[in-house]
Amino acid sequence: MINNLSFVKNLFRTYLSGESNWTFYSFSGNEIDLDPEKNFGLYLHVPFCKTMCLYCPYYKVYFRQELAEKYINAVIDEIKMYAPLLRTAKLTTLYIGGGTPTLIIDGLMKITGIIRRTLGFDGPIGIETTPADINEEKIAMLMDMGVKYLSIGVQSFHNRFLQCMGRDYESEKAIKAVEIASKYKFDTLNIDMIFAFPGEGLKELKKDMEIAVKLSPDQITCYPLFTFPYSTIGRFLKLRRLRLPPINVRRKMYYFLHDFLEAYGYRRTSVWSFTRYSKIPYSSVTRDYYVGFGPGAGSYTGERFYFNTFSIEEYVKALEKRLPIALEMKVSKKLEKLFWLYWRLYETVIPIERYSVMFGSNIYKDFGFLLNLIKFLGFVKSADKDKIVLNKYGCHWIHLLQNYFALDYVSKIWSVCQKNPWPEKVKL
Ligand SMILES: C[S@@+](CC[C@H](N)C(=O)[O-])C[C@H]1O[C@@H](n2cnc3c(N)ncnc32)[C@H](O)[C@@H]1O
Ligand code: SF4
Repeated sequence: MINNLSFVKNLFRTYLSGESNWTFYSFSGNEIDLDPEKNFGLYLHVPFCKTMCLYCPYYKVYFRQELAEKYINAVIDEIKMYAPLLRTAKLTTLYIGGGTPTLIIDGLMKITGIIRRTLGFDGPIGIETTPADINEEKIAMLMDMGVKYLSIGVQSFHNRFLQCMGRDYESEKAIKAVEIASKYKFDTLNIDMIFAFPGEGLKELKKDMEIAVKLSPDQITCYPLFTFPYSTIGRFLKLRRLRLPPINVRRKMYYFLHDFLEAYGYRRTSVWSFTRYSKIPYSSVTRDYYVGFGPGAGSYTGERFYFNTFSIEEYVKALEKRLPIALEMKVSKKLEKLFWLYWRLYETVIPIERYSVMFGSNIYKDFGFLLNLIKFLGFVKSADKDKIVLNKYGCHWIHLLQNYFALDYVSKIWSVCQKNPWPEKVKL
């Protein structure tokens, strides 16, 4: 059955991308393939945490001061290596993710200063952190650094879910953290929530959302609990020590979030996010092209995907001589178009004209079958010559497909790279 499913999946993706070989190979060049005429977002991965949450798939290690110092110096070297390539490119935004980036707030001041001076970056900065690491002093430092977008990983206001997932704060602290951040004028303040924890039902989700809307952040992002097979929770699930809510309950939760948050003045801005009408939605993942710094960071130039090594020690060592890129994958024009469409589906709106401007061709000519299929299946709220907008059912299906395709790919790359810092290849 699983073999049949992967056969269908491979057939479908080959049809859509015109590419049957989706494989990352070990990086063989000295430079990344980058067109300085394009716009790029920047990403900085800060892989330090004080706790290891059970569900977390990201590359991170326990925070140690001396390791953090080596990391900061290496990141600065990496940024300087990119300077000849990026100085003339248009750099739109900088997103700092992790891990828990605010653990090295002094280092971030230094790194963002280097990014501004060496790469000529002057755009807005976004950053994510956990309630456990928020206080007045840190928030004031983020404002000084030029942070316009702050995302707080609240996850839940139920102490029992926080506790069983290994979070190191209680509901009260999470509320306080959002209240502190709300006093400052960030362009967008987002909170991340997770739903469908083992043992969670609609009643608990409703309580979480009531607290969330009362705190009134600009954006609320609600992820269903992903159980990456290599994360601790993934292993527990395999041992059948944990049971997630059944699929019909998870579907009801998904629809509930849509109806509840729309009733409280939020509009859907991605398959997971809801944003106040007056605010610009902010996302860490939807740049057209981006360059990533730090161990485990990815870059996407339209021509290729790259991943840096997922080991701080190897990252620091590599930067004594060269870029710390471990893997690369060539991207055909059709795959680049498909990737663009994938992120527009994630945003739940497909702007027709933007596609023509970006790729010089008609989206219906390239992806007519897929677009007509989503209309036929009843996933579309409205479609005109400007844009196609997904409805609540479409969003639900896209998020299921996303789990099936994208999270599987992420899981494959991240699990191999966290075991081997320099893999020979990763076949998706
Ligand atoms: C790098 S983490 C956030 C920053 C911070 N370290 C924290 O934990 O609050 C990014 C976000 O991804 C979401 N996330 C991480 N792992 C997840 C999983 N297994 N399932 C669902 N959401 C997840 C969480 O909502 C989290 O806030
Ligand atoms: S969820 Fe956040 S705090 Fe927890 S281990 Fe992952 S990155 Fe660190």
